[in-house]
Amino acid sequence: MTVAGAAKRKKPKTGRVADGAAEPAALLRWYDRHRRRLPWRAMPGEVPDPYRVWLSEIMLQQTTVKAVAPFYVRFLGKWPTVKKLAAAPLDDVLKSWAGLGYYARARNLHACAKAVAEQHGGRFPQTEAELRALPGVGAYTAAAVAAIAFDRRAAAVDGNVERVIARLYAIETPLPAAKTEIRSRAEALVPDRRPGDFAQAMMDLGATLCTPKKPACVLCPWIEACVARRRGDPETFPRKAPKIEGKLRRGASFVVTRADVHVLVRSRPPQGLLGGMTEVPSTPWTHEFDEGEALAAAPLKATWRRVPGIVEHGFTHFPLQQSVYVARVPAKTKAPSGMRWVALADLHGEALPNVMRKVVAHAGLGLR
Ligand code: ADE
Repeated sequence: MTVAGAAKRKKPKTGRVADGAAEPAALLRWYDRHRRRLPWRAMPGEVPDPYRVWLSEIMLQQTTVKAVAPFYVRFLGKWPTVKKLAAAPLDDVLKSWAGLGYYARARNLHACAKAVAEQHGGRFPQTEAELRALPGVGAYTAAAVAAIAFDRRAAAVDGNVERVIARLYAIETPLPAAKTEIRSRAEALVPDRRPGDFAQAMMDLGATLCTPKKPACVLCPWIEACVARRRGDPETFPRKAPKIEGKLRRGASFVVTRADVHVLVRSRPPQGLLGGMTEVPSTPWTHEFDEGEALAAAPLKATWRRVPGIVEHGFTHFPLQQSVYVARVPAKTKAPSGMRWVALADLHGEALPNVMRKVVAHAGLGLR
């Protein structure tokens, strides 16, 4: 069936259409029984708070529901309104974000809160177009907020929803080329009634039943409509183009402990990867890194010891292997220019990215 044709189909009382096309009402009925209880989700009959919806959507970009929940609760406790978040020092926001990864998101989060407070009087705009104009709000987030917070017809298409749609229509074009077709299919499905619940139902279906491996098709409200299921190979969708992985980069980090239990750190340049975050002194991360030259980049003179093994970390666009050197220095040692000492007990409160948390752990320093 064509996308345009979907609007004209006949609806029998069962909620499933005669030709087996996916019926939004069937998904909504499933959602009413099986919706996940999530800290940011309004209960049935409750009016959603756009600030909470937006905050959760930003946090959920590239991060799992399970990982986000405690951060979300803590964040909301600290900054219960967008105006309070806008008034917070950026550094406090970055510190509370540490551990969620992708720090550009935290910077944009703060910039967006300021924009809403200063340009929109503390109220989120309602349309996708206006939402998209805010810092850090892309097509997905704008659609999710418009739908969930304001019950507007909008298709929030993330990876989970792409999988649901690719299977429902057995789309043979591989990703990412299939994105345009998937989007128009997803848009055509959004109902006029309860588009916000429909968006969340699609998310829940993708997360709980229509999973990447072993989808639970027998429990799916769209089992009869799903073309991939009828073909018998739903788990092979979406088709994917061969993956091009970033080239490995390597480097070394230097973990210096002062006798009075302080650790030497510095702030990364404000622009670029992990901009403004805290790190232990490190070499640049390059394709040509030479382990034999690593100690030439050590931040101070000391007896260095290389910790056996390697720290591995995956950034979005390249994998990293990091060797770790440790040294101990006397309590009176001055920090080299551009660096500072932080008490080990305070290190957990620094805006320390995940890769540096791994480095510090590899050096044998437990964060408290
Ligand atoms: N993933 C992204 N946004 C979500 C939401 N609002 N609820 C559940 N899972 C999500």
